[in-house]
Amino acid sequence: MSRTRVAVVFGGRSTEHAISCGSAGSVLAALDRDRYDVVPIGITTEGRWVLVPDDPARLALSGNELPEVKDGPAVALPGDPTVGLIPLEPGAALFDAVDVVFPVLHGPYGEDGTVQGLLEMAGVPYVGSGVLASAACMDKAVAKLLLAAAGLSVAPAVVVRDAQWRADPGAVRTQVRALGLPVFVKPARGGSSIGISKVSSLDQLQDAVEEALRCDPKVLIEAAVVGREVECGLLDGPAGPQASVPAEVRVVGDYAFYDFQAKYLDAATELDCPADLPEEVTAALQDAARRAFVALGCEGLARVDFFVGENGVLTVNEVNTMPGFTPTSMFPLMWRASGVDYPQLVDRLVQSALRRPTGLR
Ligand SMILES: Nc1ncnc2c1ncn2[C@@H]1O[C@H](COP(=O)(O)OP(=O)(O)O)[C@@H](O)[C@H]1O
Ligand SMILES: [Mg+2]
Repeated sequence: MSRTRVAVVFGGRSTEHAISCGSAGSVLAALDRDRYDVVPIGITTEGRWVLVPDDPARLALSGNELPEVKDGPAVALPGDPTVGLIPLEPGAALFDAVDVVFPVLHGPYGEDGTVQGLLEMAGVPYVGSGVLASAACMDKAVAKLLLAAAGLSVAPAVVVRDAQWRADPGAVRTQVRALGLPVFVKPARGGSSIGISKVSSLDQLQDAVEEALRCDPKVLIEAAVVGREVECGLLDGPAGPQASVPAEVRVVGDYAFYDFQAKYLDAATELDCPADLPEEVTAALQDAARRAFVALGCEGLARVDFFVGENGVLTVNEVNTMPGFTPTSMFPLMWRASGVDYPQLVDRLVQSALRRPTGLR
């Protein structure tokens, strides 16, 4: 029996390049080599696709230096289903058929529907959500509309575009006053908390909006929600999405919120997996997470992040279609606590992708 050829694509042009490398290293290590023929493809920070050594250790996030895709034999995947993956220079092996792609990419040019569009054009099945769901989840303003339409609770917010802010910052201040302080100012299509500020007085608004605008010309200003941060993992199954046990992230120490530093410095967060919640709150949260997955049209996997307020009131914060995937990331930890270990998780995602043909996604 011939082995299934899986291309693991990682790195990329977003600010989450190193995190993606770390996640991909773990995926490479977990793929069963008796069943899968693995092709690791790194995308450099400039966006060049290169074949890289199949060496998970080089991608680990544990060393002093953050992992990065450097150079290698360049390959391209043209948007032509009759071609396959082609070498751009001598030395790169030619793979005429890739059976499935695992895009372990976070953020823009990866988790936002763009790579998914390329894979659709190339006619290669891939792990995770399709074009629309990826793009909708990446854009926090669009996701909010779809979640609210499905009856899920989200934080009130206003959208500010670059041009609008330049033309009339006073109007934005008025809107923010109506939302009530504090607010969170964020790039509509960001990740890893980059470009996000908490604004507690109106005189901090300008700096916060300028900071978010450096990442994205579309900015979301959102009322602050008081509550615990609890996440839930979703996997699609034969009878619809399945929810993992939820887990709570607690930021310890001197952080205003779950910002970049807090996310990636080990000592800054504590994790409760499963989250210490009353049974009925856990059940309601899992139900809301499944509804969010369906409302956004997600496929394969997603992580739905909530705020859990007093009396178990749930607010959806965001939905990530390619959540962090290192063995210490929330998503794999929640699934391990739900009885699916890391290699099983990777296998399940690849098998689910193979059942989903391209087209209409
Ligand atoms: N409306 C909000 N109320 C309270 N905290 C928030 C709000 N929005 C964001 N935060 C804080 O900022 C963190 C990052 O925001 P988030 O929207 O999840 O962006 P990212 O996609 O970068 O993770 C959250 O985990 C939370 O700690
Ligand atoms: Mg988040």
